[in-house]
Amino acid sequence: MATINRFADLHDDITAWRRDLHEHPELLFDTHRTSGVVAAKLKEFGCDEVVEGIGRTGVVGVIHGKTNKSGKVIALRADMDALPIHETTGVEHSSKTDGKMHACGHDGHTAMLLGAATYLAETRNFDGTVVVIFQPAEEGGGGGKEMVDDGMMDRFNVQEVYGMHNMPGLKVGEFATRVGPLMAATDEFTLHVEGLGGHAANPAACIDTTVVASHIVVALQTIVSRNTDPLESVVVSVTSFETESKAYNVIPQRVEIRGTVRTLTPEARDMAEAAVSRIVENTAAAYGASAKVKYKRGYPVTKNHADQTAFAASIAREISGDAMVHDDTDPVMGGEDFSYMLESRPGAFVFVGNGDTATLHHPDYDFNDDLIPVGCSYWAKLVETAMPA
Ligand code: NI
Repeated sequence: MATINRFADLHDDITAWRRDLHEHPELLFDTHRTSGVVAAKLKEFGCDEVVEGIGRTGVVGVIHGKTNKSGKVIALRADMDALPIHETTGVEHSSKTDGKMHACGHDGHTAMLLGAATYLAETRNFDGTVVVIFQPAEEGGGGGKEMVDDGMMDRFNVQEVYGMHNMPGLKVGEFATRVGPLMAATDEFTLHVEGLGGHAANPAACIDTTVVASHIVVALQTIVSRNTDPLESVVVSVTSFETESKAYNVIPQRVEIRGTVRTLTPEARDMAEAAVSRIVENTAAAYGASAKVKYKRGYPVTKNHADQTAFAASIAREISGDAMVHDDTDPVMGGEDFSYMLESRPGAFVFVGNGDTATLHHPDYDFNDDLIPVGCSYWAKLVETAMPA
């Protein structure tokens, strides 16, 4: 692998940073310690500008190259937040906060971007400006959106933006990406179904909300099986079904259903949203019950831009060779709020292999520190190639 030698020297330091972050996981926008550590390090590295408090707890560092004839500004982004999961890895650097853990490797993403920042600030072997973005609240809070809404892209004159995420199951050094939709739009629905509660021994005097809600769950499956173009990808998952009563002898008045809808195109997204309302309201009506639908659009599709994706793949090939870089991988139906940055500026998101580890969001997951020189070299080479000195 053609990683940059300097990252072999820095590997132990960056690993120590990563493990420190792992021991101190913070959720959503509550990344106060993490943001503080990041800002302090960026200042210590000699970044030309370090700005805190963008998108609440986001941090941005600016590094100017030796020259700036090109006027180019490229942004690299890492996420900083952890998950509400009880860690079971048993590793020495396990979470010190019960019920919170870095189960998605954002500790590794932050450490690798810090590693790249220290190298870029010490070498400055490029013509232009690098903006390093550390965002909170990737796991459901929309921290990426808040940073964009805070005017980050205009304030730092960002022209292109790049992101990466580790991926268990891909070998260390393996990269995967694609032009167009790489990750799904993630929408949520909450359904309130109301029938007529009463004594379980006398269903004829009731409208059995549990039965109505069960029909709704089954009918929702037809959005994928009957309403979606067979060559498109849509996911509809019901994830919560709660009746008002836990009693054996009560037909409940109300049932609350929750779930998620994942789509890769605006057309499929509109279709699925309309279908949820149509199916839920009409199925309830068919049984004499009623239903209210709350449909919340979440992260948009993470859509890679063609030129920047081809460029990102070329950098990955330089590091890992052709056989380890898949530039037409299948999309995944998970979501990613880097999507907001890609809506704002052209750029590319890539997956980098975490090796044969537990899957993302699993209590046994740990970021693979062997990936550090790969991820850091990818960032550094991307900058030095896009803006040659
Ligand atoms: Ni993640």
